[in-house]
Amino acid sequence: MTVHVRAPGKINIALRVGSTQPDGYHPLATVFQAVSLYEDVAAEPADDIALTVTGRSAAQVPTDETNLAWRAATLLAEATGTSDGVHLHITKGVPTAGGMAGGSADAAAALLACDLLWGTGLAREELGELAAELGADVPFALTGQTAVGLGRGHLLTPALARGRFTWVLALSETGLSTPEVFGVWDAQNPDPVAAPDVDPDLMHALVVGDPRALGAHLVNDLQPAALQLRPQLQEILDVVASTPALAGLVSGSGPTVAALAAGPADAAAIADALVAADVASEVLTVTGPALGARLVEPVRADVE
Ligand code: C5P
Repeated sequence: MTVHVRAPGKINIALRVGSTQPDGYHPLATVFQAVSLYEDVAAEPADDIALTVTGRSAAQVPTDETNLAWRAATLLAEATGTSDGVHLHITKGVPTAGGMAGGSADAAAALLACDLLWGTGLAREELGELAAELGADVPFALTGQTAVGLGRGHLLTPALARGRFTWVLALSETGLSTPEVFGVWDAQNPDPVAAPDVDPDLMHALVVGDPRALGAHLVNDLQPAALQLRPQLQEILDVVASTPALAGLVSGSGPTVAALAAGPADAAAIADALVAADVASEVLTVTGPALGARLVEPVRADVE
């Protein structure tokens, strides 16, 4: 039996940051949106835990116990006391090193796939608790859609969002280090707010499904820090500003830049401009919100 689970990558359409807490982390008020780039995880019975990876930039992904999906399987086995093993095969579709939480999607998919394969039958809430232990972005990959994240981003509240938004993503070859970006943010913000909040106007734009209003309220407090560390991102933002894009911003701690399009025709114009300017390593057009981790029909090699 093979259990096949798909989980989405994400962008941050709002990210507010507060002052460092005693645990070294910054409290966040963020709005995640899952987008139509997916990680596929196939789980098969095995004596031990094993992991293989194919797909987008697979060569950059570790296949040992440091992989977050491997850790997810180990954590679930420990939490449930099962002695079963699993062979996880990941097919990557989310860009690596872009801050789009592809590794977190792998972990969320692995949790759900192993729970189904092993028959450990955890409730979604219990899977969510294990997900939060693995990383701040893992719970969102389980729930998907659009959600507000507080704390480290792991305390999720689903957001009402009508309709579908079209985003053009400008990718960069090399990632940005999250701690470095927060470090620069600290230097840039000597007197930060203690508890950041999400803009009610942005939430309203989501409820009514109005891309123009949403574009007016996209925000990322980490963008100036990302730009300081990677000035080339400003070139991408400048190209986006010369197109019909409703807004453009660095997503999360970067380096992916997301441009909001009014619809598919504008998205094509934005993508063409980015490709012509040669400012990004790759340009992708996606839609959001996308579903969270879910079981997909088994692909059976013996049935055509
Ligand atoms: O979540 P992740 O392990 O990627 O975070 C790496 C580092 O980024 C943390 O150790 C911390 O220095 C910084 N960080 C932060 N506040 C957050 C998330 C990350 O200061 N909310």
